[in-house]
Amino acid sequence: MKNTETKAKARPAGKSADEMGKQQREISVSEFFTKNRHLLGFDNPRKALLTAVKEAVDNALDASEEAGLLPDIVVKLEPAGVGDAPAPPASQATRFRVTVIDHGPGIVRDQIPRVFAKLLYGSKFHRLRMSRGQQGIGISAAGMYGQLTTGKPVKIISRTGEKQPAHYFEVQIDTKKNEPIILEKKQIEWERHRGTQVTIELEGKYQKGRASVDEYMELSAISNPHATFTYHAPDGEVKSYPRTIPVNPEPPKEIKPHPYGIELGMMLKMLQDTKSHWLSGFLSGDFSRVSTETAEDICKNAGLKAHMRPRDVTGQAAENLYKTIQATKLMAPPTNCLSPIGEKAILAGLFKQIKGEFYTAVTRPPAVYRGNPFVIEVGLAFGKTPEALAAAAAAAPKAPLAEGESRDDDGELARVIRFANRVPLVYQQSACATFKAVLDTTWKNYGVSQSRGAPPAGPMAVFVHMASVWVPFTSESKEAIADYDEIRKEITLALREAGRRLGVFIKRRERAHAENKRRNIFELYIEEVVGACKRLKGGKIAEAKLRAQLNDVAKKLTGGQKTDELVDKKAGPFGLPDSIIVTAEGVEGDAPAHVKEGK
Ligand SMILES: Nc1ncnc2c1ncn2[C@@H]1O[C@H](COP(=O)(O)OP(=O)(O)OP(=O)(O)O)[C@@H](O)[C@H]1O
Ligand SMILES: [Mg+2]
Repeated sequence: MKNTETKAKARPAGKSADEMGKQQREISVSEFFTKNRHLLGFDNPRKALLTAVKEAVDNALDASEEAGLLPDIVVKLEPAGVGDAPAPPASQATRFRVTVIDHGPGIVRDQIPRVFAKLLYGSKFHRLRMSRGQQGIGISAAGMYGQLTTGKPVKIISRTGEKQPAHYFEVQIDTKKNEPIILEKKQIEWERHRGTQVTIELEGKYQKGRASVDEYMELSAISNPHATFTYHAPDGEVKSYPRTIPVNPEPPKEIKPHPYGIELGMMLKMLQDTKSHWLSGFLSGDFSRVSTETAEDICKNAGLKAHMRPRDVTGQAAENLYKTIQATKLMAPPTNCLSPIGEKAILAGLFKQIKGEFYTAVTRPPAVYRGNPFVIEVGLAFGKTPEALAAAAAAAPKAPLAEGESRDDDGELARVIRFANRVPLVYQQSACATFKAVLDTTWKNYGVSQSRGAPPAGPMAVFVHMASVWVPFTSESKEAIADYDEIRKEITLALREAGRRLGVFIKRRERAHAENKRRNIFELYIEEVVGACKRLKGGKIAEAKLRAQLNDVAKKLTGGQKTDELVDKKAGPFGLPDSIIVTAEGVEGDAPAHVKEGK
């Protein structure tokens, strides 16, 4: 009995290591993402349609800006039929053809198949510079999703200049090898001199409203006021968003990694890959903010020779070097690798797309998380347009509200609009550091009501933008920003500053309303008093003079000159910097001239 038991233990019923070994093999990145398409933002048909548009538009904007060209982008969504069936109306369609056209630099012929049909292939991953794309997955993943759901290839036209021919390609991904398969390639006539057009047919669902392609286009116009967008919705509606700023943002510079931002493993790899022959040269040459002197000090403090070969720094020595670097005081990384939107441009964008009474924008100074520089920007659009206010007043019940009674719009919550490197983020709001910071801000301090754990209430849009060389997204689909302490702190500070300005506006507006009411009452009595004086004096009285004097008194009693002083036109309305106030009389403040005119 004992014997059999030992035998059974020695030979378990399951598979042997040999058998298991035969099943172990490489998983291609395309196979991985085919199974995990939700990681890339293709988890349901509605979101898939948006993600495909977003990836193509991101690339179009990145490429145009990098080439120094003003982005001019066309997005076309068309319902498509299944098989030979005719295309159903947009609301019932389950398949769409997404076409995005740019007037950018184009893509050289030989690169086209890999750009559109190979995952993890791109120009942005290995550099530290702010751009919308980071990973080299975006557009090929959208193509792969299209291929999986409709069997159709990605169709591309690209041309790099007037003297160059336009190339047409149809490509698919070989998911086993993560390599492109070219189904068609030829030169064609194309009316554009330069640019790229990509068409992907995919399973999708079109619905307007929150997190729709329509909302994404509207938000993109806010965060990219230098770009022109033309959007052909699948129901045939065409919306155009002409640029409001005629120049591209300052192009961000590429920087070297900052020592505080790298992990030990990364440093080990850099030590092996460097072109420097000396350790001190590696430190000062391959990192930002390490001078030759500092590099020598680091070597000394780590007990290493400055002239040793970087490749020989391994094991304990490498660990000592890493610890010494982290303990050395270094300047923060340079910030010319960032290109924030800027307060004026945010105001212009908000003003154009969101109607309200008060606007403000705050761009924080650059800060650093894990060695990566970043900038936080916040904007607020508050209130209703004079027309909307008038309509609400006309519709509102004349009698004041009784206790416990509320008007229809009282429950309206602020809309939080989030952006990372100018790209609107429309999904996973509650997982995003920006949204958490909005919830954690005490809006009551600024005269806006707020329930516990909710965004502020009222007719308001809160704009939050993070610009960074590396935005820490919570997943590959780039939908929410991870909650690093340094990032949260900056967002909070920016929200507080914008909130403070809003508070000033609300308080002063309330006061102005009250004073205005008083003045109106005085004016009613002035007529009575003038009439009475006239009767007393038997009609012999300088009526106009008396009225003017009494009006002067009324003005003085209701703020008078002081109110005028409060409205300091020089620094923006109400003395607030970078704010616009819209009243029935027109626009006050820093709205750029072309925005005012083109309203
Ligand atoms: N419209 C375009 N014009 C010019 N180059 C383009 C265009 N679209 C893509 N590219 C090039 O193709 C590369 C791959 O694009 P892809 O969207 O797959 O990755 P990415 O933009 O680098 O990163 P991410 O995965 O974060 O989007 C880009 O890095 C860029 O060099
Ligand atoms: Mg991309």
